[in-house]
Amino acid sequence: MDFGMKGKVCLITGGAGSIGLASARQMLDLGAKVMLVDRDADALQTAADQLGSIQTCVADVSDERDVAQYIARTIELFGQIDVLFSNAGNFGTVAPIEDYPTEVFDQVLAVHVRGAFLAAKHAVPHMGQGGSIIITSSVAGLRGDPGVYGYITAKHALTGLMRVLAKDLAPRGIRVNTINPGPVSNGFQQRVEDDLGEIIGRDGTEFFDEIIPMGRHATPEEVARSVLYLASDQSSFTTGTILSVDGGMSG
Ligand SMILES: NC(=O)c1ccc[n+]([C@@H]2O[C@H](COP(=O)([O-])OP(=O)(O)OC[C@H]3O[C@@H](n4cnc5c(N)ncnc54)[C@H](O)[C@@H]3O)[C@@H](O)[C@H]2O)c1
Repeated sequence: MDFGMKGKVCLITGGAGSIGLASARQMLDLGAKVMLVDRDADALQTAADQLGSIQTCVADVSDERDVAQYIARTIELFGQIDVLFSNAGNFGTVAPIEDYPTEVFDQVLAVHVRGAFLAAKHAVPHMGQGGSIIITSSVAGLRGDPGVYGYITAKHALTGLMRVLAKDLAPRGIRVNTINPGPVSNGFQQRVEDDLGEIIGRDGTEFFDEIIPMGRHATPEEVARSVLYLASDQSSFTTGTILSVDGGMSG
């Protein structure tokens, strides 16, 4: 069973990263055509070497010229877009409000919020009935934590963007949802936990495992399976929703 993914054109931003790559692999296994977009050219090359039959485009998702270029390249190669997985992300930093650098706040919002807005703006003209937009928010889009100003604000803002898009695009048969992972076992989260560990004076990974009801982090593959559900025709009547993949952390 291919869940209706065979031949679908899937564009993934942050595609050279952990969750993006795991999602690409599962989409490819079901016969989808995949374009990976990332600002990290070396990581994209490694991804292409690993996955084989994919296309890649180096781009900064917060730069509108880059966005226009990666969309144009996708259309040139594939002619349409069925799935837009807006997933690129950066964490920023953790600091008391008086010390939180304004430029870091702006950068984090630019990548997540402006990046997802621009991706939708440029992709939607090439999407039609049965299309799916998935935006990576986070458990951080559902709760506050001290000092995480840029990231938590950005991840909450993505819910607003998703809801507006979902209402706008429903009449055109395009679904829009967020995926909200909890802590994932990967380098992105490890860096966060190393920094947190220094602030709280104990192991950051253990700290999270204790507040996740299922007692562990997600694997990138577990998050990817939920992305696949939202990308596929299996979720044909699901739009405007938040899909948490967090072992119960936000419940
Ligand atoms: N790792 C976690 O625990 C976790 C939890 C919840 C949500 N998320 C979110 O999942 C998404 C994917 O993160 P990941 O865990 O795979 O981390 P990752 O660091 O492996 O992947 C993120 C990718 O985004 C790319 N990127 C960053 N800024 C970019 C820009 N301006 N333009 C283009 N590409 C850019 C990076 O180069 C990287 O390849 C992010 O949005 C992140 O916030 C991660």
